[in-house]
Amino acid sequence: MLRINEIYAGYGEIEIIHGISLNVEQGEIVSIVGPNGSGKSTLLKSIFSLVDIMGGEINYLGSDLTATATDQMIKKGLSFVPQTDNIFPTLTVEENLELGAYVSTKKLSDRFDLIYNLFPPLIEKRKKKAGTLSGGQRQMVAFGRALVMEPKLLLLDEPTAGLAPMFIDLILEKVEEINKTGVSILMVEQNAKKALAMSDRGYVLAAGEKKYEDSGRGLLENKEVAQLFLGG
Ligand SMILES: Nc1ncnc2c1ncn2[C@@H]1O[C@H](COP(=O)(O)OP(=O)(O)OP(=O)(O)O)[C@@H](O)[C@H]1O
Ligand SMILES: [Mg+2]
Repeated sequence: MLRINEIYAGYGEIEIIHGISLNVEQGEIVSIVGPNGSGKSTLLKSIFSLVDIMGGEINYLGSDLTATATDQMIKKGLSFVPQTDNIFPTLTVEENLELGAYVSTKKLSDRFDLIYNLFPPLIEKRKKKAGTLSGGQRQMVAFGRALVMEPKLLLLDEPTAGLAPMFIDLILEKVEEINKTGVSILMVEQNAKKALAMSDRGYVLAAGEKKYEDSGRGLLENKEVAQLFLGG
């Protein structure tokens, strides 16, 4: 459903991504792993045209994304949870969810039920300002904002960053649960072993280039990948 072909991207004059190709098929969980600063966030942002595209093609469900407005991308079922600043802290939980709802075709209450079912801790917090929640709960709000838009493909940038170990496993389980409802996932994750273990396929990035590409299991079992990128 997503096809990135030889993309070059960066910031102004600075090229960070040097010709990366990647694809996500319907129903897959695909992970992008790699060291800090290797360009994982820049690659995800390039899909949403949030960085400068210097070359290559990005095709999503038959449309050229480099020529598609953001609201059209969202209408086509593409949704992005960025690594930072992914909620409005001064708005309540419910107001955060409502912001995502304008493109929804289903009844708002149905969408909210789905999100509260997935993340029960948010129910009693729904009138609280999102900024007062714990890190794990904030991430639930960020997911909720994305899910209320009824995505077909969900882009996640380090969904477990900064979370306590208990929340890391919970959030990754939720990613699998969301995937089982038919949402394809493209995820950047620092917990590379956990991410690859639950992924259909994965990509290893280093210095803005794709170094390895295989099934999640294949990358986990690759000695070179394990030694260089997964801490042995
Ligand atoms: N807004 C920006 N302007 C200029 N350079 C940037 C900007 N954001 C990131 N960079 C640079 O781009 C490179 C890749 O950064 P990016 O955030 O994509 O890496 P990453 O793999 O997501 O790292 P991390 O694991 O720390 O999140 C880094 O050298 C970084 O300094
Ligand atoms: Mg990043």
